[in-house]
Amino acid sequence: GRAIGVFTSGGDSQGMNSSVRAVVRMGSYLGCKVFYIKEGYQGMVDGGDNIVEATWASSSGIMQRGGTVIGSARCKEFREREGRLRAAENLVIKNITNLVVIGGDGSLTGANLFRQEWAGLLDELLEKGRISQQQRKECSHLNIVGLVGSIDNDFCGTDMTIGADTALHRIVEAVDCIATTASSHQRCFVMEVMGRHCGYLALVGALATEADWVFIPEWPPEDGWEDTLCRKLANERSMGQRLNIILVAEGAVDRKGNPITADMVKKVVTDKLKYDTRVTVLGHVQRGGKPTAFDRILGSRMGAEAVLALMDATPNTPACVCSLDGNQTVRVPLMECVERTQAVQKAMSENNFEEAVRLRGKS
Ligand code: F6P
Repeated sequence: GRAIGVFTSGGDSQGMNSSVRAVVRMGSYLGCKVFYIKEGYQGMVDGGDNIVEATWASSSGIMQRGGTVIGSARCKEFREREGRLRAAENLVIKNITNLVVIGGDGSLTGANLFRQEWAGLLDELLEKGRISQQQRKECSHLNIVGLVGSIDNDFCGTDMTIGADTALHRIVEAVDCIATTASSHQRCFVMEVMGRHCGYLALVGALATEADWVFIPEWPPEDGWEDTLCRKLANERSMGQRLNIILVAEGAVDRKGNPITADMVKKVVTDKLKYDTRVTVLGHVQRGGKPTAFDRILGSRMGAEAVLALMDATPNTPACVCSLDGNQTVRVPLMECVERTQAVQKAMSENNFEEAVRLRGKS
């Protein structure tokens, strides 16, 4: 059977373990050998004990856990050719020519470049006597399939990234908790939520918690928003509301692209309205804890599909991402997704917010 390596890379997210489990199980079911590559690209570069054969039993009991049990790391060495040469050598030693990479856009882009370089890397290893002719021949093509693990839901090409639903649940739980104490003391809370340059978590979190206001990168407020915000808050209070909740995405900006931070919003509210206002930064709580049922199932579906995609791959098939379209599992060319995701980031950095939203929507 073929050998498959599975690894998680970049920031962790809840649900990654269910993908790892599904890759092991679908792979084993189809007669493949599956290897865990621990600590992301770092484990691939270091080899040795970092690349171990997975068993059915070793993938039991992990789906319920947050994070990634096989570890994740940011790896400087993999950015250098020498690092990628060592990574290729470690894969060839184990005869691994199929990879499932679970991560965000940076990790998936890295995997695609590695695939494009593969033949050249193998030639160099052969030349240097680090692999044999036989190994060069047996491992001539590298197949790659990507799964999008990220709490941010910032990847073009899938409706939901693995982990976003759980992060949303963490946010909703936290806002609900804050709301009770806020109400007791008639306070205003400004809560910062994650998402990097994407406002999904803040926007949907705000809708699900009856927040009074939300700041997201994709929809900067009109100039003079300070007065509009305060009028809205005061209006809510005049109708009997005892508290205010404002969510601020960590990447929120104004129309000129300058950051809008939770502290800035707090200052506006205290200066203008004199409300007792507090800031809560949710931070990595959002990335932790048990995955929701949705993320467990999503991760499982994508993991199983990844193995099927690897089995279908020919040397000429472009690398793909397994993703969710409506409620369907689909395969999308990896480069198309990465290019669109990068185009969104570029549009955002140029304050071209409408274009960013258009690009992020379905084509
Ligand atoms: O991409 C996931 C994410 O949690 C973002 O929401 C956040 O901006 C970033 O990672 C934080 O990175 P780190 O865990 O390295 O501090």
